[in-house]
Formats: sequence, structure tokens, C-alpha cells
Amino acid sequence: MKKKITKAIFPVAGLGTRFLPATKSIPKEIMTLVDRPLIQYAIDEARAAGIKEFIFVTSRGKSALEDYFDHSPELEATLRRKDKNDLLDLLKSTNMDSGAIAYLRQNRPLGLGHAVWCARRLIANEPFAVILPDDVIAAETPCLQQMVEAHAETGGNMVAAMEVPADKASSYGILDVKEDHGAMVSVKGMVEKPNEGTAPSNLAVIGRYILTPEIMTNLNKIKSGKGGEIQLTDAIAHEIENSDNVYGFRFKGQRYDCGSKAGFLQATVAFGLSRPDLCDEFGDFLQDLMSIRAAAQ
Ligand code: UTP
Repeated sequence: MKKKITKAIFPVAGLGTRFLPATKSIPKEIMTLVDRPLIQYAIDEARAAGIKEFIFVTSRGKSALEDYFDHSPELEATLRRKDKNDLLDLLKSTNMDSGAIAYLRQNRPLGLGHAVWCARRLIANEPFAVILPDDVIAAETPCLQQMVEAHAETGGNMVAAMEVPADKASSYGILDVKEDHGAMVSVKGMVEKPNEGTAPSNLAVIGRYILTPEIMTNLNKIKSGKGGEIQLTDAIAHEIENSDNVYGFRFKGQRYDCGSKAGFLQATVAFGLSRPDLCDEFGDFLQDLMSIRAAAQ
């Protein structure tokens, strides 16, 4: 019987240089879309997929992330006294049960693969998920849940995949497709950030993975790859050679790259407009803004 996926790694040890100076003192993952930090979207998605153990790989300057998941007895008592039950429920959704969350340090930012490898002892011999909180995905069925359901059929290693324009391929890990079955593709190769014009397909890997423990063994052996970093893509590509069990999954949903300024702004607008309490006022404001812009051109 296939093992259930109950552990997820959240690599959050990156420097977040694209958001300097903000990220000088705030972790990127605490930045908010409307009123919820990026990390809350990631945690909610993980919970919906059945994840019970949350493993954060952090670094210096990320203590705000640890505090975020703590109980806040004084704030809760005040809200209770004032009968603000909606806010109390909202606050409770940010709490984690004791022991459900673990924090590990990545001492140096040696790359995503290295960050994942830092969690090897907590993963032991189980399949696990990896969620990059910068990739926020708006979807009717949360992306990781879609993947867990698809993975129940295939097992093996699965990466979330999305079509990208040819001129953007060099910013992603790109799949070399063996067989295309629609939502699911089997993979015969993976290239991290291919040079322009050399991408084997237009299917890019984005920040959701379900991986076998063998990936940790591969990471043990990998030296630094593209950009001098230890790449998760390289460890997954090794598994294609070793056991031919790597799949790409075309998820249903809209992905926002909240690690980039443009993506973060797009997500802010989209999430703002999707909120019933904000959409009228915010929508009117955007329309006015666009009219002023059009008139000025
Ligand atoms: P990014 O490539 O977005 O890098 O990492 P970054 O440092 O977060 O941001 P920029 O490029 O400097 O603006 C993708 C994911 O991998 C994690 C990041 O925290 C992010 O979730 N990561 C990256 C690590 O945990 N450790 C690393 O050494 C590198």
C-alpha cells in the first residue's frame, strides 16, 4: 500500500533579495496578500492536502515566522472579552498544535536542494511534500490536494507543472516530456534554467513537489549545480535515471510568483478583487485608475 503524505517541508531560508529593503527585517513569507501572510496560504493548502507535520527550513532573521504560529493568549483573551468571535476563529486558524511544527536552520543559503536536504532526518524513510510559499496558487481544489489525489494513482515523484512562454523558460526548471497524458506527463529529463532556445518543452516546474525519500539520498551526493547552488531539480533528474518514476502534473489553478515584485502585485490585485468585503470599493478604484491612465496616454 502507498504511504500517505503527512509531512511537508517549507524551505524559507532564502535571502529574498528581490524585496530588499523590506526583507532586511521581515521574512518574505510574512509579507501579506490583503491581510494574510504568504505562509498562511501555504499552510492552509498543506492542511487541505492532509499534511500533519510541518517542517520549516529557516535561517537568520526569520524569527517573525516562528512567532506567527504561536498562540497569543493575551490577544485571544481580549477578543473573547469583546465578543469578537470571527476574529478569534481567524486567529485560531494560525495556531499550530504542539509538536506539529519543526524549525531547522540552513546555515548558509546553498540553494533549494540544500534547504530540502537539511530536513533529511525528520523525513526519514517517508514520501514527503515540498511547498515554496512564494508560489501562491488560487484554485478551487488546492494544488497540493490535486497532486496528492493524482499521486495516489502513480506513486513516485511528482512536480507541479505549468506551461510558460518560450522566452520565459530560462527562468524555470523545464521538463523533458516522455509521454503526455493530459493532466499527467511522464518525464525523461529535467533542466534547471535552460539557456535560451534550448528548453526541451514549455512545461515549467513550479513550487509544489511530492518526493520519495530517495531524493534525500541523491541530494547527499550532489555538488553545486546551476548558479553555484545545490539544485532540487538535479536530485529529481537523478531519480529519472535510477527508477524512471518522475511525473509532471498540470494543476488546475492560477499561480502567482510572489517572489517577484510584479507577481506579488498581481496576486494582491487578484486576491483583493476576490474578497466580497473589498471587491466593490477596490474594483471601482482600479477602474478609475485605469481611466486616468488611459486619458494620460
Ligand atoms: P528563490 O530562488 O526565490 O530565492 O528561492 P530567495 O532567496 O527566496 O529570493 P531572491 O531570489 O533573493 O529574491 C526559492 C525558494 O527556496 C528557498 C527560498 O526561501 C524560497 O522559498 N531557498 C532558496 C532556501 O530555503 N534556501 C536557499 O538556499 C535558497
